[in-house]
Amino acid sequence: PEILADYDLSRPITSKTGLRQGLAGYGDPHFSLFLRKVFIKALGYTDAALSLPIIGIINTYSSFNPCHSNANDLVESLKRGISAAGGLPVDFPTISIHESFSSPTSMYLRNLMAMDTEEMIAAQPVDGVVAIGGCDKTVPAQLMGGISANKVFLPLVTGPMMPGSVQGVRVGACTDCRNNWAKFRAGELDVEEIMAVNEELAPTGGTCGVMGTASTMACIVAGLGLVDLRSGATAPAVSSARRRVAEEAGKRAVALVKIRDEGQAGVKPQELLTVESFENAITVLQAIGGSTNAVVHLMAIINRHPDVAGKLTLKDFDRIGRKTPLLVDLKPSGDNYMTDFHNAGGMLALMHRLRPLLHLNVRTYTGQTLGELLDQSPFKDFEFSRKVVRSLEDPLWPACSLVVLHGNMAPDGAVMKQSASKDQRLLKHRGTAVVFENSEDLANRIDSDDLEVTKDSVLVLKGIGPVGNPGMPEAGLIPIPRKLGRQGVTDMLRISDGRMSGTAGGTIVLHVSPEAADLDSVFGVVQTGDGIICDVAERRLELEVDGGEIDRRRKERKNNPSGAGGNGQRWLTRKRQRGYRGLYERRVNQAHEGCDFDFLMAQPPSESFKE
Ligand code: FES
Ligand code: MG
Repeated sequence: PEILADYDLSRPITSKTGLRQGLAGYGDPHFSLFLRKVFIKALGYTDAALSLPIIGIINTYSSFNPCHSNANDLVESLKRGISAAGGLPVDFPTISIHESFSSPTSMYLRNLMAMDTEEMIAAQPVDGVVAIGGCDKTVPAQLMGGISANKVFLPLVTGPMMPGSVQGVRVGACTDCRNNWAKFRAGELDVEEIMAVNEELAPTGGTCGVMGTASTMACIVAGLGLVDLRSGATAPAVSSARRRVAEEAGKRAVALVKIRDEGQAGVKPQELLTVESFENAITVLQAIGGSTNAVVHLMAIINRHPDVAGKLTLKDFDRIGRKTPLLVDLKPSGDNYMTDFHNAGGMLALMHRLRPLLHLNVRTYTGQTLGELLDQSPFKDFEFSRKVVRSLEDPLWPACSLVVLHGNMAPDGAVMKQSASKDQRLLKHRGTAVVFENSEDLANRIDSDDLEVTKDSVLVLKGIGPVGNPGMPEAGLIPIPRKLGRQGVTDMLRISDGRMSGTAGGTIVLHVSPEAADLDSVFGVVQTGDGIICDVAERRLELEVDGGEIDRRRKERKNNPSGAGGNGQRWLTRKRQRGYRGLYERRVNQAHEGCDFDFLMAQPPSESFKE
């Protein structure tokens, strides 16, 4: 009957589902629908199939993205789940981003992928989508786009890779990439050995097997209540469990669309996700010792949500962190790999352990509350599990693995993973700044024997912020000057406006906001010789220069923006760049807001964005 009604010109097309949504294209909705049917029938569909709810599958397969190598298998499993539940699966591509094949940085492309995702969900007649993501920037991009598009939206991660093995020792990307390369440089491994390691670091497809950004974001989508707790975040990419997760996600997407069609609220991402859901996600982030990058991503995602934007800021990461211990023992903070986390019970085990700290009344992708879901999925505690997923009474780190610092040097905040510090004394430190104006300056001077630096100096790297070096590269892990390294110094206090890989460690302050390129920033006028105080217990990051002198330096810099590394000059010339790079440099917001484009935020652009 609905099919016949499509040809009844005397009555408007009332249904807003399946092919019948968004029919403005040709002015005449009946004709628009007629045309749509003409073209989709070229693929062999019947009218009966076309009257089912349409579930889009975002396929981010790319031969440049080994982290998504199983995407086509997952599409097949999703299609089975969607069809079995009475939906019509339709897969389509968006761009795919891999960490190693995205120059200048993958972060630079994240917002492009978020826009692609949002617009393709909005443009096409899908009732809901399942988005296949995995590699670091893809899951954040998809959540940003999915929340903004606000149709039924479920993430599906590709899952972690398996660990490899070299002479009986397990290895995995990418914490062990760094360790082994350092050994090769030091002459501890010969060419044959390092080549053998190269073959084993990523022995299967899937995302990096440690608690880097990809694993962190996978755990966060479980913390948000958007994937299966037992296997959704942790089942290996090559496992049959991963394909069952996909089949199940397909079924759930159809079920959510049916709930929506019954007129019930609470299934679209803007309804499903609340301030409490995001607080749970932040609790998970702290408990897994997650990547600092996830702070930037979560702020971008939060700021896409009209009801959550402005209600959660960087300060809430610190507030929640203070009561959340680090429980998951994975590299780089601990010893194990994602497959161990999965075998220990995965996010289900963690959520049970975190239960007293979570909001249990939030809704999940099943339609149930988190509390109901946990009650129905009991977790049997066992010895191996206690080793990898520690209890609240026996944590790896007591609280706040990630801290947020403020002070005159970072009025809008800076982030540090204190659980990754190698020298705890540096967590309360006063030292003299040794400033590098940009990455090039750093490369030229850091290993020079003439560099005036001691183990108590504070290494400062400017010019790697969102505008200063578009995409905010992961260069925040400033190397220890070689002459100090030779003396056995392994950690120093290091500060930058850039990011650091989730697989790295040290006493490193990141994401200083506003960045040095901003002509009004204090960070931009820090000079070699200035005193810097970092007090993590007090969450302070101070430049020991009085306000009058800071103002004098800022004024001087405005008069000569091309001085001192030219970061200020870039701030001015960014308006003249063409293409996506121009868009990026003109409109990217600061790290504490998520490095999204200001015009994509749910709330009007913030004060810190200056034309
Ligand atoms: Fe894709 Fe590490 S490179 S997850
Ligand atoms: Mg990474």
